[in-house]
Amino acid sequence: MAMQSPTERDAWSGKLGFVLAAAGSAIGLGNIWRFPYMAGEGGGGAFVFIYLVCVLTIGVPVLFAELSIGRATERNPIGAFKKLAPGSWWPALGALGVFTGFAILAFYAVIAGWTVGYFWMALTGTFGPDVDAAASGEIFTSFIGTAGPAVGLTGFFLIVTALVVRRGISGGIERAAKILMPVLLGVLFLLLIRALTLPGAGAGLEYLLRPDLSEVTPTVVVLALGQALFSMSLGMGAMITYGSYFPKKDSLPFAGTAVALADMGIALLAGLVIFPALFSAGLDPSGGPGLVFVVLPTVFAQMPFGGFFATLFFASLAIAALTSTISLMEVVVAYLVDDREWPRKKAATMVAIGCFVLAVPSALSQGANPYLSTFLGETWLDIQNIIWGNYGLSIGAILICLFVGFRWGTDKMLDFVELGGNPLPGRGLFGFMVKFVCPLAIGVVLAFIIVTGQYF
Ligand code: TRP
Repeated sequence: MAMQSPTERDAWSGKLGFVLAAAGSAIGLGNIWRFPYMAGEGGGGAFVFIYLVCVLTIGVPVLFAELSIGRATERNPIGAFKKLAPGSWWPALGALGVFTGFAILAFYAVIAGWTVGYFWMALTGTFGPDVDAAASGEIFTSFIGTAGPAVGLTGFFLIVTALVVRRGISGGIERAAKILMPVLLGVLFLLLIRALTLPGAGAGLEYLLRPDLSEVTPTVVVLALGQALFSMSLGMGAMITYGSYFPKKDSLPFAGTAVALADMGIALLAGLVIFPALFSAGLDPSGGPGLVFVVLPTVFAQMPFGGFFATLFFASLAIAALTSTISLMEVVVAYLVDDREWPRKKAATMVAIGCFVLAVPSALSQGANPYLSTFLGETWLDIQNIIWGNYGLSIGAILICLFVGFRWGTDKMLDFVELGGNPLPGRGLFGFMVKFVCPLAIGVVLAFIIVTGQYF
């Protein structure tokens, strides 16, 4: 039996390890695949501006709320609420979080699998000069609609994720992040140089960076806040779990802020790669979810050394996805290890297997199986994203804020943010945001998606 007394519990080796791992969780498909098409749908600069406001005013307070719950309890989300509110219903919020993480992993891993397939296709020269928009669309549809690769690559991604998670916090997750995050940054910078030196790149920069505030609609605000929550891995306790491994002696405010800034920075960096390339090729930025998989390959096809840059791009997407699937799996594994006293290796293996079973319908829902592809008028994968990615995360985030604001107390939260470091400037404001502004703002978004059926 792998009994762990609290003192033996694994932890990050220090602040840097935490920042890289937590930034690894936050930076993922959300930044490189989702952010650009959201920006494309939300009018470019207008969306980007509102997104930045949402990160700073809503995302950052919720991030610290989660991190401090983890830090105070040194537990997974379920264990954390059991410890802070024993004998109450609050541990059910932890359970919602753990299950939401499991369910998000089950569709996220499918898209992560596509990135591996695209990496392979780019490497083997699939995106040659003859790949136009129609051909690219066909490659995408037939690739994601073929059962073998779709299911197989999902399984492959879950196996790689489990191989990291089973090695633990400092020796597994942190070690992977310390290698993968610098590689990701390096690759994105190379791509940035390529994109900015393309003829006509300036129009893309302008589209992304010049906000036209007349384009801000309620829909844009909802998309931007939803994007901020998802991108920062908030609302289901991933950051409770990662905060629970934060050394007591280290100072959290800078480390937490660095995670938020890194997440924001990489989303902008991805935008600075993709929009100049799109505009230079004269293509439409509002391509929806297919933007990165369908439109970009045609851009690479026309560019000198395009095959090389396409390979790099899809490698960066796969790397970013991996450090995120690691964090989703870790939440469930942490629960099984902390509260069920399972050995970590067994927990990682079982979660990967269970998740794979749950992921198969999503993998088959993109054309391989007609029933799953038109389930209630949406694909099964889209429905999973609506239930867990939209409802699960926003309900989770609201309740986490209400827990901190009205049950645990914002003073306690702030004490654990300050532990091991300097007093926070603007303590009172921070507490006010978590207690009132964040739950209200996310509540409005939740009401909007319920009423309009428009999801983020
Ligand atoms: N934030 C990641 C991304 O942007 C995805 C992710 C990882 C996530 N862990 C999460 C999303 C927890 C919500 C909750 O791709």
